[in-house]
Amino acid sequence: MADRKKELLLAARKAQEKAYAPYSNFHVGAAVRGGDNRIYSGCNVENASYGLTCCAERNAIFAMIAAGEQRIREVLVIGDSSEFLPPCGACRQVIAEFAARGTKVHMCNGKGECRTATVRELLPFRFQLSKDET
Ligand code: THU
Repeated sequence: MADRKKELLLAARKAQEKAYAPYSNFHVGAAVRGGDNRIYSGCNVENASYGLTCCAERNAIFAMIAAGEQRIREVLVIGDSSEFLPPCGACRQVIAEFAARGTKVHMCNGKGECRTATVRELLPFRFQLSKDET
């Protein structure tokens, strides 16, 4: 595995250990490499009011934004599953906001094996406000 991807995997795994998921018991970690080449990570955070739960990917991206970086170079997400973990629809839209269409998203299983797709493959159409509506 390439060093840069390995770095993302280690950061995502570390964040996964911090997941707050007492309701689903499904622990997820995510890491994004920003345009500044720094790695930002996040875990899923659940809530007794289930709909308030926030996914690991969005928490990682929001940490990147709060640090002042707005460009995503690469994303990696990992869960405790035998299947490769694809980002949910809401996270795809949030990833697309800050990534180019060719940006890679690595979807990993519990063993750390990954399947890779581009943002365009994951979300061929995304909602966008046209400039004159803002
Ligand atoms: N979850 C993520 O954090 N990322 C995903 O890509 C899929 C789902 C979380 C949300 C919830 O805490 C748990 O996994 C079960 O859906």
